[in-house]
Amino acid sequence: MAVLKVTKLGNPILRKKCNPVDDFSILPKIVEDMFDTMYEEEGIGLAGNQVDLDMNICVVDISHTEEDDVRHVFINGEIVERTGEWLMEEGCLSVPEVRLEFNRAESIRFRYQEMDGTSHEKEYDGLLARVIQHELDHLNGNLIIDHVSKLVRIQHRQQLKEIEQAEKSLLAVK
Ligand code: NI
Repeated sequence: MAVLKVTKLGNPILRKKCNPVDDFSILPKIVEDMFDTMYEEEGIGLAGNQVDLDMNICVVDISHTEEDDVRHVFINGEIVERTGEWLMEEGCLSVPEVRLEFNRAESIRFRYQEMDGTSHEKEYDGLLARVIQHELDHLNGNLIIDHVSKLVRIQHRQQLKEIEQAEKSLLAVK
């Protein structure tokens, strides 16, 4: 078991569009570490660049709800269609203690690969669709703060500045 450090706002890897995965043989260890890290941090989704990996991979587990009881691993994911609108409050392990309310699609059509390389295209809705959109945002270099107005960002300015400064000083000593 390995709990990895979660990258925070201010870390440039969170602003990068992650590279596709082509070597699937290295995934089992990475996926195990990502689940360990996500559970330790009490998250319900985690993207590759949140553990400093420039890889299009994310893990999702919303089994605390009645909606779903599967541990998901999505590789090379791509949202191919978005339908409807759903206003909801979200948090993010990379932007700790900040909660922001904004719209995302209510349902999505999502294309991805499994750990064995097989390809799928499926429809998702509800919380699972919400979390997948959040993680795909990460993998495309986007964060929850990009979804709200400048005014809302200004309201959280102090908190965001502190997260960024802490992350930058951590990076500086590396
Ligand atoms: Ni997040």
